[in-house]
Amino acid sequence: MLLPRQLLLCCLYAYAFAFELEQHPFLPAQTAYKPAKRIGIVGLGTGGIAALRALKSLPLDMREDWEVTIFDQRHAVGGLWVPQDDAPDPPSIPQTPAYPGLRMNAVHMHMTVPNVYFPPETPLLAPRAHVLEYWQGLFNAVPLGVHDRVLLQHSVTRASWIGDEGGGYWELKAMDLRTNLTSGFSFDHLIAAPGVNRFPRVPKFEGQDLWLAKGKRLEHCLWFRDPSKYTGQTVIIVGGGPSGLDVARHVVRTARKVYWSRQEGEPELPDIDGAENVPRMTSLKGGSPTLMNGTTIPNVDTIILATGYEVRIPFLSAGGFLDDASHLPSDIGKRLTTNGRYISPLYEHTVSLDAQYPLGALYFISLLTYNPTGLTNTAQATFAAYTIANASLLGTRDDFRAALARREQRVRDAGQEPSRYGHKVILGYGAEQGWGEDGFYQDVLVHDLVARDPKLAGLPGVPDVGFNLTERWRVWVQDNTDRVLPAWHQMVDERGVEWEKEFVRGQRTEADYLDTMRRFMEYWDDRGE
Ligand SMILES: Cc1cc2nc3c(=O)[nH]c(=O)nc-3n(C[C@H](O)[C@H](O)[C@H](O)COP(=O)(O)OP(=O)(O)OC[C@H]3O[C@@H](n4cnc5c(N)ncnc54)[C@H](O)[C@@H]3O)c2cc1C
Ligand SMILES: NC(=O)c1ccc[n+]([C@@H]2O[C@H](COP(=O)([O-])OP(=O)(O)OC[C@H]3O[C@@H](n4cnc5c(N)ncnc54)[C@H](OP(=O)(O)O)[C@@H]3O)[C@@H](O)[C@H]2O)c1
Ligand SMILES: *[C@@H]1O[C@H](CO)[C@@H](O)[C@H](O)[C@H]1NC(C)=O
Ligand SMILES: *[C@@H]1O[C@H](CO)[C@@H](O)[C@H](O)[C@H]1NC(C)=O
Ligand SMILES: *[C@@H]1O[C@H](CO)[C@@H](O)[C@H](O)[C@H]1NC(C)=O
Ligand SMILES: *[C@@H]1O[C@H](CO)[C@@H](O)[C@H](O)[C@H]1NC(C)=O
Repeated sequence: MLLPRQLLLCCLYAYAFAFELEQHPFLPAQTAYKPAKRIGIVGLGTGGIAALRALKSLPLDMREDWEVTIFDQRHAVGGLWVPQDDAPDPPSIPQTPAYPGLRMNAVHMHMTVPNVYFPPETPLLAPRAHVLEYWQGLFNAVPLGVHDRVLLQHSVTRASWIGDEGGGYWELKAMDLRTNLTSGFSFDHLIAAPGVNRFPRVPKFEGQDLWLAKGKRLEHCLWFRDPSKYTGQTVIIVGGGPSGLDVARHVVRTARKVYWSRQEGEPELPDIDGAENVPRMTSLKGGSPTLMNGTTIPNVDTIILATGYEVRIPFLSAGGFLDDASHLPSDIGKRLTTNGRYISPLYEHTVSLDAQYPLGALYFISLLTYNPTGLTNTAQATFAAYTIANASLLGTRDDFRAALARREQRVRDAGQEPSRYGHKVILGYGAEQGWGEDGFYQDVLVHDLVARDPKLAGLPGVPDVGFNLTERWRVWVQDNTDRVLPAWHQMVDERGVEWEKEFVRGQRTEADYLDTMRRFMEYWDDRGE
């Protein structure tokens, strides 16, 4: 017997397939029927799923006769959590940086959307497959209308606004990867959720050619899949972000010697037993890895670059609607521009303030990093959905530019340069981080909606007056997740996944999860570590 969820999925695929027939190059890509609003979403990872959920949970009278089309180039829903374990070799770019041993880098309660939790007995640091299942479950629960389309294996190659600041529409080109045929689509609103962990940031080091000529390896962690590849080697991991931490944790198990090259100012992440911290690697002069303090490290076999990703969106750049620049203008510009770290000008990382089209024509979901994904994506998507429904909620471009200037000033006040700091929220938003009374990013964003129209309080996705999107228990979880992270990994290393299964046995409710986290912290403290 088919479960309801599987039935729904079958229907979705049937839809996707049925609409495929309309994609024939000699037929119009969309039906002649013109709905009240046509909305395109690019990307069906956590960002695109949040966008779809928010649009489809608006009260019915607000979204009457809307048509939503979602594109993703992958064969399945879930973005980077959909595995591709046989990654192609460089320079071909894999579809995802996720690897078999990947787990969430926070307890799962910290990453969920409001009111939908992980299933019973999920390990606190959820393995990759659990995360995928969670987001696919959210997607499968969205009721789609007859005019909505989910187009998997479709790569969006170009988006152009046909019109001006006063009005117009987006023209999208998308290629069906099964046939290589390209079709055109028209949308009134575009939501870009293509992910920011796709294009590796690969610094060039002096002496690199000599290094490679010696038969040594230099690779970005986007291609990392299996630590056994490094068995018996001496490895330097460059970059002190979460990817550096994760790769170090895996590679110490197989390599002979691991150096972790990071520097002050990188996020405060724990040390890894068995990996030696060293200063930033500055060159490969003479074909040898040289550190900032002048020391050379001998006998290294492989350098793994965990140096992050470039924020690039080729389909917008191809249409002329996102400039790629090495430096952003010192003032807030008028054209949307990325320097590889930061897209500007955007209101709250979400609404494009580009002057070539009206406000509300283009939204971004999920540009943020170091954030509670479920909450921030939901808040951004909710903001997009309600402002698409009622454009007068958006106010003026000048108001939004002033708000952006204030946000950037707060980043500067914290000693950071906005164009380099990018879309991180780690410093920002939340009294406990020393940022004042405003509350967390996701709460500020939805409260802003209510300030613009008090009638919205209590509608789907918008908390009632006196409530935050961020429930109180989440604040406790956020404050303590960093303690649990290294301890849990160490326990799994020592005792294996059987210990983990035993520890979470019987957990059913959110309260149980919190209790398990508390219990684990006590247990760890008792060990005196
Ligand atoms: C190794 C790694 C581990 C991570 N672990 C965590 C974690 O534990 N917890 C957490 O909250 N976050 C984690 N993150 C951050 C993660 O990026 C976000 O949590 C989130 O899953 C990203 O979702 P997304 O929808 O923005 O992007 P993605 O998951 O990348 O989804 C974007 C989708 O858009 C599609 N797409 C892109 N361009 C096009 C196009 N032109 N045409 C059609 N389709 C397109 C892609 O195929 C992809 O499926 C991790 C990131 C990395 C790199
Ligand atoms: N297990 C998990 O859940 C997990 C695992 C991996 C990643 N992630 C997520 O994936 C996203 C990306 O993480 P990431 O670690 O890949 O990227 P990241 O957060 O951008 O970190 C990259 C680090 O490399 C440094 N770096 C850049 N260029 C360098 C150079 N030339 N030499 C030395 N260091 C250099 C950067 O410092 P500067 O900023 O100073 O350049 C930065 O600290 C994040 O959202 C993260 O949370 C999650
Ligand atoms: C589509 O193009 C790719 C890359 O050029 C090629 O490898 C593939 O065979 C083509 N597929 C079809 C069905 O033509
Ligand atoms: C440079 O760093 C390396 C690795 O941490 C250390 O062994 C060495 O002593 C340092 N050299 C100087 C001159 O500080
Ligand atoms: C749209 O938003 C404005 C506030 O900006 C509000 O006054 C108006 O009532 C809203 N329209 C509808 C139909 O809800
Ligand atoms: C909502 O967030 C604000 C700012 O952090 C906080 O002061 C307030 O107490 C929160 N309200 C609730 C009900 O949690």
